[in-house]
Amino acid sequence: GYDVSKLLKQTGAVAFDPGFMNTAATTSAITYIDGDAGVLRYRGYPIEQLAQHSSFLEVSYLLIYGNLPSATELEAFDQRIRHHTLLHEELKGFFSGFPRDAHPMPVLSSAVSALSTFYQDSLDPFNAEQVEVSTYRLLAKMPVIAAYALKKSIGQPMLYPDNSHNLVENFLRLSFGLPAEQYEVDPVVAKALDLLLILHADHEQNCSTSTVRLVGSSNANLFASVSAGINALFGPAHGGANEAVLKMLRQIQADGTKPEDYMEKVKNKEDGVRLMGFGHRVYKNYDPRAKIVKATAHEILTKLGGNDELLEIALRLEEKALNDDYFIQRKLYPNVDFYTGLIYKAMGFPEKMFTVLFAIGRLPGWIAQWREMISDPNTKIGRPRQLYIGEPERNYPSV
Ligand code: ACO
Repeated sequence: GYDVSKLLKQTGAVAFDPGFMNTAATTSAITYIDGDAGVLRYRGYPIEQLAQHSSFLEVSYLLIYGNLPSATELEAFDQRIRHHTLLHEELKGFFSGFPRDAHPMPVLSSAVSALSTFYQDSLDPFNAEQVEVSTYRLLAKMPVIAAYALKKSIGQPMLYPDNSHNLVENFLRLSFGLPAEQYEVDPVVAKALDLLLILHADHEQNCSTSTVRLVGSSNANLFASVSAGINALFGPAHGGANEAVLKMLRQIQADGTKPEDYMEKVKNKEDGVRLMGFGHRVYKNYDPRAKIVKATAHEILTKLGGNDELLEIALRLEEKALNDDYFIQRKLYPNVDFYTGLIYKAMGFPEKMFTVLFAIGRLPGWIAQWREMISDPNTKIGRPRQLYIGEPERNYPSV
């Protein structure tokens, strides 16, 4: 019931774009997406090639510094991250303050936010050396915090990082190791997790990354900005979708619902039900990351002994959707989260940890985007306008 062009004139604003569907908020040299063609590149390298040949550590370096590292540079990067894995002992106290059944995402964002109280010597966004230190601190400590959030939720003791392991191996050991037992990293699990982290590492101006940039545009420090990004990722329309997909698949299995009947419910928008893991703001074609996950899901699940029945339900839902007018007309295809939950589950992670795994993967992207913004002389504080539709001026009633 309101006239947008009139409101725009009144405000002096030039565009009304809810959800920023058509607004470019920045230039960026990090990630390229062609949503119609289903193309994704980090720093020019196709995601398919990185998934096949690279490692999460190398991709993190690539995103943050712009080029693939030489062997010496990668070694130095790895060593420097290993050097920073320990958490301040007092920070560990945080974990006992949360209820046992706390979701690990808010635990993660709170502990990451608290890093700016423990590491006050690396908070200046305009001091290049401090930005480097906070970058390494975050890359090294966030997986440790994530593993502690998991240990807290299952009531197990927290292990100290063992820096003879790399970042991914250390995370697995901290997540699944027990003090009295020798924990052997399963190379199949480590490789699968590494691949999934690569696929999540950046995705240009998505909701959480835009949040990191917006918070950082006020010159907030890296820890504060990334903590905000973690909270943005928590929502089921964004990172929370991987957890929601598995809940949906288990529900369908438990109720004995036929995938085709579930699809009818989705199409009729019964109770606002959506096919979780489907649809994307930018991809109007098959998400290239989902293609890679789907291709490896069978292989990984066979090796890890995953739940075949849930995979079968997922495959049936996808097959139905790809041949259904509702999904074809709206260009709804599986996104990266449609198959990842099944793999995380087979690795032994509880469902509540799925979005945390997404956050660990997205971290180098958030850092790269924050650093790009801070060093861009054209950056301005993010401050959208609004179209006011409330009451006109009125007088406070006389008493
Ligand atoms: N199931 C059923 N219908 C859907 C779905 C879905 N998953 N996604 C979109 N639609 C329908 C909408 O109902 C709408 O239909 P209408 O035109 O009849 O009203 C149309 O498709 C367009 O949907 P919008 O919500 O306007 O699309 P938008 O670009 O705003 O949303 C989003 C994208 C949030 C990802 C959406 O597709 C969704 O909710 N998907 C499920 C959650 C999910 O998987 N999120 C993960 C995103 S990827 C990521 O974060 C890694």
